[in-house]
Amino acid sequence: MQSITIKAPGRINLMGEHVDYNNGFVLPAAINKSAIVSISKRADHQIHLTAIDLPDELIIESLFDLVVQEKKWANYIIGVIAQFVKKKTFSSGFNLALTSDVPIGAGLSSSAAIECAVAFALNELFSFGFDKMELALMAQKAEHEFAGVQCGIMDQFASIFGQQNHVLLLDCATMEFQYFPLELNEYEIVLFDTGVKHALANSEYNTRRLECEAGIKFIQEKFPKVQSLRDASISMLNEAMGETQNSKVYNRCKYVIEEIERTQLATQDLLKNDLLAFGAKMFETHEGLSALYEVSCPELDLLVNAVKNNLHVLGARMMGGGFGGCTINIVKSAFVQQIINDTIINYKAKTGKHLQHYLVSIEHGANVI
Ligand code: GLA
Repeated sequence: MQSITIKAPGRINLMGEHVDYNNGFVLPAAINKSAIVSISKRADHQIHLTAIDLPDELIIESLFDLVVQEKKWANYIIGVIAQFVKKKTFSSGFNLALTSDVPIGAGLSSSAAIECAVAFALNELFSFGFDKMELALMAQKAEHEFAGVQCGIMDQFASIFGQQNHVLLLDCATMEFQYFPLELNEYEIVLFDTGVKHALANSEYNTRRLECEAGIKFIQEKFPKVQSLRDASISMLNEAMGETQNSKVYNRCKYVIEEIERTQLATQDLLKNDLLAFGAKMFETHEGLSALYEVSCPELDLLVNAVKNNLHVLGARMMGGGFGGCTINIVKSAFVQQIINDTIINYKAKTGKHLQHYLVSIEHGANVI
């Protein structure tokens, strides 16, 4: 029976962290690490799933009985199928096999890559006719309902809409976006992977969303027109929350308001090719994520501090949801190898752990291969 193969990438994010669910701006790009899904129709209504890398298998008896599974990997697939079942009628079941080289827990959106590959594959195989934006939104819903993470849209959006050598500027309030070429000239993007993913990551992520919502409620008491932190300024926040004791909520909102503004300014830096100014803002973002938003961890802080005073590193910060995963660094090409070697030694000495690194290139979003 005819089979279709789809590749959907992981992503990096240059700036705009933890602001997608606050109607902010994000600057992600798809990378050269992807989930690959091969799918073919069956004669019955069963679903046969294979995780090639584990290896593991799961058979679902009926398309109409999709529930959260103990096998975590399966939820990223079933979660997407469930979104399609809500909207369309399947003429048959299918076989689906998955492999991926997006490192898991590295903050490179390995789960979004799977979800987007599955969404794209189902859409192609059954000719459902959803457009790219609908696919990204269904993939995001899968994460909410089957993985239990109330994520924003950035990861799925980047995985579907990515373009080779281009960064996406997405306005998460309107979902308008534009591409622009990333010209790093004599610099390169280097990712350092802490190799840790602290257990609290998912629940803390959901807590941050709630804290931001609590902050909006405070602000709305004084400024009823404010719908999201995108509409708020630091002076509004100060006026609304200055005297309350809830410093956690205050700090979360302060970070988000600053990061939304910083991302807009940083985009101008990129357009002017002012990488020095852009890099300085990356360090500011890290500071905010660590001290105010509190989604960093000792390993991430250590990696950022290790390169902070290095003249050949323009900027560095933790990337993605946090509590582990990668830092993203802009490093002068001629010094990349030396900086990688030094950082590996430093990290080993201080944590006892081996540091992975990735030299990523910016690639096309989800596609048939
Ligand atoms: C995770 C989420 C995204 C985004 C980032 C933080 O990757 O899936 O929606 O919120 O964290 O910027």
